[in-house]
Amino acid sequence: MREPGPLARRAILVTGSTGFIGQPLCRELVEAGATVRGGSRTGGPHPVAGVERVRVPDPLDRRSVRASVAGIDAIVHLAARVHVMRESAADPLAEFRRANVEATAILVEEAAAAGVREIVLASTVKAVGEGNSAAWTEEVVPAPTDPYGISKLEAEFVVRDAAQRYGMQTCALRLPVVYGPGVKGNMLRLFALVDRGVPLPFGSVANSRSLLYVGNLVAALHSVLEHPPDGAETFFVSDGRDLSLATLIRMIGEALGRPARLLPVPPRLLELALPRAESVRLIGSLTVNGSRLSRRTGYRAPHPVEQGLRATAEWYRSTPGGRSAR
Ligand SMILES: NC(=O)c1ccc[n+]([C@@H]2O[C@H](COP(=O)([O-])OP(=O)(O)OC[C@H]3O[C@@H](n4cnc5c(N)ncnc54)[C@H](OP(=O)(O)O)[C@@H]3O)[C@@H](O)[C@H]2O)c1
Repeated sequence: MREPGPLARRAILVTGSTGFIGQPLCRELVEAGATVRGGSRTGGPHPVAGVERVRVPDPLDRRSVRASVAGIDAIVHLAARVHVMRESAADPLAEFRRANVEATAILVEEAAAAGVREIVLASTVKAVGEGNSAAWTEEVVPAPTDPYGISKLEAEFVVRDAAQRYGMQTCALRLPVVYGPGVKGNMLRLFALVDRGVPLPFGSVANSRSLLYVGNLVAALHSVLEHPPDGAETFFVSDGRDLSLATLIRMIGEALGRPARLLPVPPRLLELALPRAESVRLIGSLTVNGSRLSRRTGYRAPHPVEQGLRATAEWYRSTPGGRSAR
């Protein structure tokens, strides 16, 4: 364990603590000497040593939420119905609102009643929109277009309102795509495609996208817990280096030790060939300006992108898919 720092002995609840971001965050907080409670809908020992697992089977059930926040100083709220590739719900917005807005409202009310001082919400760039041609700052007016993004923006409102209503210190961190060990979705797919040597038609895609290594996110969360905001704050956060899809794929190839095979197909053709949502995600630009977070908390991304991709590649190699492709 390190020298005791400002988080030593602070009681911190991490909701969604068993997930991709939750586990490394819990590890960091335990290392920093905090007393960490890990919220989860299921029981059993927590995957991170030193974390007290607290079961909240239904995040809309006030009784178990109340028990989870008792004696807590700060909450990092990660639990959410996250963006899904293949949506099966009949009314996705209603499902997202239940899990991401109503559950956040209940958490905030119970936290305020229990005397919790600080809440940090993991929000997303999708709360602002799907793409841009100049890096977003926190002054940009959000215009989310999908149910997930809408629900996350509404969750931001809930958390911001708690600052006024209950005098809490609240913060919403708007995250771009996060990668690292345990990554899922499109990023995992890219690692698998590059590893199998599949030729990819993105060699001419010169877009620009912000990304965030989970190790950098954990450091950012540590910073906001160490420097709680006055009232309510919203921050973008990223690795601080934006990449085109072609460069990202090349760097994944380097991290895997497998040179990427990129074909120079004109982006215009890709736009015609791909479904609109896919084309926006892959060949559109989406960048954020994280300077406000740095100014307010002194946060600097400690890990360069290469290091984050290497850690992801090492993890990928340890998965059944990553081993069999060798
Ligand atoms: N990963 C990214 O690229 C990214 C980007 C932007 C924002 N975010 C935000 O970061 C947070 C954490 O994301 P993650 O990537 O770590 O997700 P994750 O791996 O899916 O973890 C989220 C955890 O929340 C719990 N959970 C899942 N569905 C839930 C529901 N409907 N209601 C309550 N709890 C639920 C699950 O834990 P249990 O099963 O143990 O309850 C799950 O392990 C989310 O708020 C997400 O919106 C992530």
